[in-house]
Amino acid sequence: MRAVQFTGVNQFSVADVADPSPGSGEVCVQLAAAALNHRDVWIKSGHYAGLQWPCLPGSDGAGVVQAIGAGVDADWLGRAVIINPSFQWGDREQAAGSTFSILGLPRAGTLAQKIAVPVTQLALKPVHLTMEEAAALPLASLTAYRALFCRAKLQPGERVLISGVGGGVAAVALQFAVALGAEVWVTSSSMDKIARAVALGAKGGFNYQDPAWSELALKTAGFFDVVLDSAGGDGFGRLIDVTNSGGRIVFYGATRGDSLLPVRKIFWRQISLLGTTMGSPADWQGMLGFVEAHQIRPIISAAFPLEQAAAAFALMERGEQFGKIVLRLAGGTL
Ligand SMILES: NC(=O)c1ccc[n+]([C@@H]2O[C@H](COP(=O)([O-])OP(=O)(O)OC[C@H]3O[C@@H](n4cnc5c(N)ncnc54)[C@H](OP(=O)(O)O)[C@@H]3O)[C@@H](O)[C@H]2O)c1
Repeated sequence: MRAVQFTGVNQFSVADVADPSPGSGEVCVQLAAAALNHRDVWIKSGHYAGLQWPCLPGSDGAGVVQAIGAGVDADWLGRAVIINPSFQWGDREQAAGSTFSILGLPRAGTLAQKIAVPVTQLALKPVHLTMEEAAALPLASLTAYRALFCRAKLQPGERVLISGVGGGVAAVALQFAVALGAEVWVTSSSMDKIARAVALGAKGGFNYQDPAWSELALKTAGFFDVVLDSAGGDGFGRLIDVTNSGGRIVFYGATRGDSLLPVRKIFWRQISLLGTTMGSPADWQGMLGFVEAHQIRPIISAAFPLEQAAAAFALMERGEQFGKIVLRLAGGTL
């Protein structure tokens, strides 16, 4: 089969690799589409724990079950499925346990024409989604769902700020928060992306590259009950400035690095800082139910054939996407 293969820091190709075969309790999925996550860029550039070369990256995929291993119900054969990339979460809802891992390092990932995964990681593809939309769903939507609903406990009518709305997780978080009935505001580096967010139901937005954005946000929108962020870094203090007393900041990334925290402001204004990562099996089921109930379709920024994976990575590295970047894998056979 053909697959994206990383062989060293920023060294990769679309290569011929051996087909996977399903072990006991596993299925082999012929993938129709996969989606990139920023995690794949961190791995490619050597900024990720537990790097191994060569490796097959990718956490998001959708396709059809093509073969089953011992002990798997034959009813799965031919089913259209998506894959939960959150492996071995463990038995505590509060956080993943020590055996937790994410699909696409150390285990071979989805930027490939086929993948073998435990049958327990499968869900039926939501019927309202195309294969490409379904492939765009898993990691970003699971992360956004847990962050907004399980960690920050966002309520209808609350005012929420979603930073960097062009990102894959942020864009679906916008869709989820709008569907819940929250009052949604966004930040972005791009006024075009803010306009797209408004078209999707946001009330407005602010350019985080404008040094005065937080003052403008307070004047225009007021304080936010919930803030969702994945940038961290120097800009995190601004997020504290715009959070309501007693409000919650939930964050799942540090694209801009660590932050020095204004501790006095945080305790005086009783702000909760909530870290979050991926989601539990219960979050996965909750996310799928929410997506079906609200008929949410993930936003696809661009789709590339597998052989043009380099162009897909370059788009994410330039930060020009709005939503998810998809790879088409099936060559028209699914
Ligand atoms: N913990 C977890 O479970 C988890 C899950 C998913 C992702 N992550 C992490 O979260 C981050 C985003 O992941 P992703 O896959 O959504 O990435 P992505 O699609 O590449 O999106 C990155 C976005 O970050 C935004 N951004 C960049 N600099 C910013 C800044 N200074 N302030 C605010 N926003 C900024 C940009 O938004 P604009 O284009 O609008 O400017 C950009 O589009 C990555 O660091 C990733 O590793 C963690």
